[in-house]
Amino acid sequence: MLKMILLLSAGAAPAPAQPASAPPDQIHLAWTRDASTTMTVVWRTLDESVPSAVEFRRRGGTRWRRATGGLRPSGTEGRLHEVLLSGLEPATRYEYRVAGPGGSWSDVHAFLTAPRLGQPFEAVFVADTGLDGRLDGLSTGTREVVEEVAKLDPTVILWGGDGAYYNTDKRFGTLDRTIDFWFNMVMPFAAKAALMPTYGNHEIFLNEGYLFWADRFPTPDGLDNRRYYSFDVGDVHFVSILAADSERGELPATVIRWIDADLARAESRQEVAGSLSACRAVFRRLQSPIQPGLPQAIGASF
Ligand SMILES: [Fe+2]
Repeated sequence: MLKMILLLSAGAAPAPAQPASAPPDQIHLAWTRDASTTMTVVWRTLDESVPSAVEFRRRGGTRWRRATGGLRPSGTEGRLHEVLLSGLEPATRYEYRVAGPGGSWSDVHAFLTAPRLGQPFEAVFVADTGLDGRLDGLSTGTREVVEEVAKLDPTVILWGGDGAYYNTDKRFGTLDRTIDFWFNMVMPFAAKAALMPTYGNHEIFLNEGYLFWADRFPTPDGLDNRRYYSFDVGDVHFVSILAADSERGELPATVIRWIDADLARAESRQEVAGSLSACRAVFRRLQSPIQPGLPQAIGASF
């Protein structure tokens, strides 16, 4: 009885441990190289004997091709696998499945490669979801948001951070188990489009830490252990800037120099020069110090 009361007062019972035979979970995609001809696939298995293998084919094809990779170090239980698919065709939909325990394969998922230069594509920005089922009611719309983003079927998903709000949602105990829940929660969209992160203040401060999250996300190398990186999709050059760092003052001069050089490299690609005026505007804004007192005024809730 005492145990039951304690659990109720804590708000929720911890999830029962899953057996090693559980199917693959936390399936998500990312770009680390050319977005029009490659895709990186990440997933977790609790069975540590499962090989890091993916089968893929053009949608509607009859023969699977196989690619193998390795492991990503992370705080999750079991293994986090990573496989790079290459030699893909631009603007083409592929289906794939990942290896599971005992020679099994996951359900089949599908993604769309980025288009060639000059062709349109769709992007979705999503952030500040929190975890579904919060006991204080602050995430009542999260499940619907995940489902709607999945229905939009974008080519790329830009994630703006603040995923778990671990400082006010301790249902899963450790931060790593909390992140595990987040990756399963977003799998409806993360398994079907490259998910490119820009971390928020919650992934940096507030009882969380950058590497807990960054270890789970493949990205291009960029600067400062991938806190800053860039990638191209069609005509658009995206730059991910860990602006949460500016809560402790201005971005370091090394970062400003990296952003400037990165934009200069993008501008040198004649085809995309016309799309960079907006990037330059953001860059100029970043060079201004953050408004004094603003972080304190916003507080820990955002
Ligand atoms: Fe937030």
